[in-house]
Amino acid sequence: MKVLKKPILRGAFPGPKARAIVDRDHKSLSPSYTRSYPAVIEKAQGVWMTDVDGNVLLDFCAGIAVNATGHSHPQVVKAITEQANKFLHYSGTDFYYSPEVELAERLNAISPTGKDNRVFFCNSGAEAVEGALKLARYYTKRPQFIAFIGAFHGRTMGAVSCTGSKTTQKKGFFPTMPGVTHVPYPNCYHCVFNKTYPGCKLECVKYIEDVVLKTILPPEEVAAIVFEPIQGEGGYVVPPKEAVVALRKLADKHGMLLISDEIQAGMGRTGKWFGIDHFGVKPDIITMAKGLASGMPMGAIIASSQVMSWKPGSHGNTFSGNPVCCAAGIATYDLVKKDLMKNSVVVGNYMMAELKKMQRKHPVIGDIRGKGLMIGVELVKDRKTREKDHDLMEAVIQEAFKRGLLMLGCGTNTLRICPPLIITKQEAKVGLDILDQVLKKVAKKR
Ligand SMILES: Cc1ncc(COP(=O)(O)O)c(C=O)c1O
Repeated sequence: MKVLKKPILRGAFPGPKARAIVDRDHKSLSPSYTRSYPAVIEKAQGVWMTDVDGNVLLDFCAGIAVNATGHSHPQVVKAITEQANKFLHYSGTDFYYSPEVELAERLNAISPTGKDNRVFFCNSGAEAVEGALKLARYYTKRPQFIAFIGAFHGRTMGAVSCTGSKTTQKKGFFPTMPGVTHVPYPNCYHCVFNKTYPGCKLECVKYIEDVVLKTILPPEEVAAIVFEPIQGEGGYVVPPKEAVVALRKLADKHGMLLISDEIQAGMGRTGKWFGIDHFGVKPDIITMAKGLASGMPMGAIIASSQVMSWKPGSHGNTFSGNPVCCAAGIATYDLVKKDLMKNSVVVGNYMMAELKKMQRKHPVIGDIRGKGLMIGVELVKDRKTREKDHDLMEAVIQEAFKRGLLMLGCGTNTLRICPPLIITKQEAKVGLDILDQVLKKVAKKR
């Protein structure tokens, strides 16, 4: 794979061809889509994307933390092509074929849910969450859920009921699924209890036990705690290990399940197979999607055979375990296992160290956090007050785009750095140098 030195820009964005497509897009596609800038991609390889006007852009987004193996990895493309030449679809819920079993066996072997696991395949993250909620209700025979403020679990009715990251995601859609109570996420940089870890003695978890479960939510009615081990959309927030352990204990005490939503943090992105692996905690149900099949639409629910004991016909779908997606998933798994998970640690640590150096130069960088290649850079108006600077985040993303670096935000004011796991240190440095220049320019203007 050719390693380019830096982005190649051939004029102003959007270029003429991109502008024409953006115009047609706005007339033909749903206005609910949230495009940050007019990147109109024609082809991509590794971490480099070429737009329709020939601009070459560096990808720090991976299609929202999806393209684990980089764009069009030859091994993934080969697996997809070979399977496509055999057959495209034959409803995995009603018939049998080998790729579905092969991928399930791989996932079962790595899932921390237990030793004898089962997989349910689906088509997206939201559908995985939807199924996990149903499974938790089915298994526990309880109706309610605990979810977290700042969480993102998807947009379908059950999933959006657990989502709690932006009101736009909910406005106009009520009534959503009843029975979801949101509680504060263990977010130490913005503690809602105004405490500091570890002196706080995990006030956020105690609040669930001492207040929520005693006043508004009978614990014996709670099927599961729905939890992102690293909050993604909410701002790439890493909770303290002790808090995750305490949530597990709380769930055990009251007979609730713990659902670890690994849709963004899973599949090696954080340097381990699953985000929750960093905390030494065993979840009951895992949800996956995004990086699972390198960009082919695929989701999965994993649980022990004891928990995933629903009867034939109780849950299913037409496209479950699509053979082409399974082939992509197998190739992705093998690549992540062989090299990419290690690369995530190596390049992630490098980026983290470089960002910490950058933080010394740029007072607008309030916090840097993350694991592996799931890194958040929180921008603030004032480091002491930690006042969030949403406009600055937007300005940085726009200016980075103009210089050929694709980034997204998360939370209200955090730069989300989630490049393909195949990124090299050299490529990471190209992007970080651009970010450094952008911060210099944009922060000075303010
Ligand atoms: C943690 C998490 N859960 C669920 C979802 C929903 O996935 P999808 O967009 O594939 O429905 C997302 C998407 O960003 C996510 O980050």
